Amino acid sequence: MDSKVFIVGAKGQLGTALRQKYPNAKSADIDELDITKKESVLGYDWSDVKYILNAAAYTNVDGAETAEGRVAAWQVNAVAVGYLAQVARDRDITLVHISTDYAFDGTKVPHKEDEPLSPLSVYGASKAAGDIVLAQAPKHYLLMTSWVIGEGKNFVRTMLELGQKDVDPTVVADQIGRPTFTTELVRAIDHLLTAKAEFGTYNISNGGEPVSWADLTREIFKTAELERKVTEVTTVEYYKGKANIAPRPLNSTFDLAKIEATGFRPKDWREDLKEYIKKELSR
Ligand SMILES: NC(=O)c1ccc[n+]([C@@H]2O[C@H](COP(=O)([O-])OP(=O)(O)OC[C@H]3O[C@@H](n4cnc5c(N)ncnc54)[C@H](OP(=O)(O)O)[C@@H]3O)[C@@H](O)[C@H]2O)c1
Repeated sequence: MDSKVFIVGAKGQLGTALRQKYPNAKSADIDELDITKKESVLGYDWSDVKYILNAAAYTNVDGAETAEGRVAAWQVNAVAVGYLAQVARDRDITLVHISTDYAFDGTKVPHKEDEPLSPLSVYGASKAAGDIVLAQAPKHYLLMTSWVIGEGKNFVRTMLELGQKDVDPTVVADQIGRPTFTTELVRAIDHLLTAKAEFGTYNISNGGEPVSWADLTREIFKTAELERKVTEVTTVEYYKGKANIAPRPLNSTFDLAKIEATGFRPKDWREDLKEYIKKELSR
């Protein structure tokens, strides 16, 4: 399958994990293929490509609340998805695309695949718009995911770094969800493609008990054997007085029954956290 795969946004967290899974795949990041450039996308040599895996996104949630970020987020997360969907439709390519818990307001728990879109932020709205235009590609998989952890800037790395610098962090305790390690996201993508699951939308995160960011931090410190104290705050308290802060959904937990019904068994996030921290500490 590798040789028929094309990975877009290849240097991000998910893109990096996809390149590890499919070492013979073609891939490009923004420096080789900027997906917001219509002519570049439509004019690209897509011959021999059967699967486009779109790992490209504008993911700076607070950055998207600024005048410049708002434009960039909509270009990458919505407009460009339309170009990829057009290519996929015209060339009979399967398009895999990733969206987010931020497409919802976090009031319904857990999120099911048919929940109506209700984004609170600019980032969320731009991703939700991408989810809508993706439907132009008849052969598509839309994976809704949360709290992505891989090779790159992410919450686990940030907390590990703080813990190693002897910082006792103050962490939000009223946002609940489950982490999604990129290894798990890649495993889900590969599963859907190889099982030839029905096209459409699937929720995916690690399995296990949903947690707050504060509890996740405690688990990170426990696993890394760091004796640090975690002080809990609410989202409102944490961001008070800060400018350009995107509103966050308070509940990000996804219902995983649909992907489980295809034969996929999500791994408990604690298992993947242990593996991840072991690797981080040996770097
Ligand atoms: N991170 C999370 O917690 C999270 C949660 C839920 C859902 N998601 C979704 O999961 C997917 C993967 O996220 P991630 O964490 O792997 O993102 P990431 O690490 O930010 O990677 C995104 C990649 O896309 C590239 N990119 C940006 N604009 C581009 C363009 N115009 N053309 C081509 N490439 C471009 C970025 O390059 P630059 O770095 O140079 O900009 C980066 O390499 C995204 O769809 C995201 O919305 C993420």
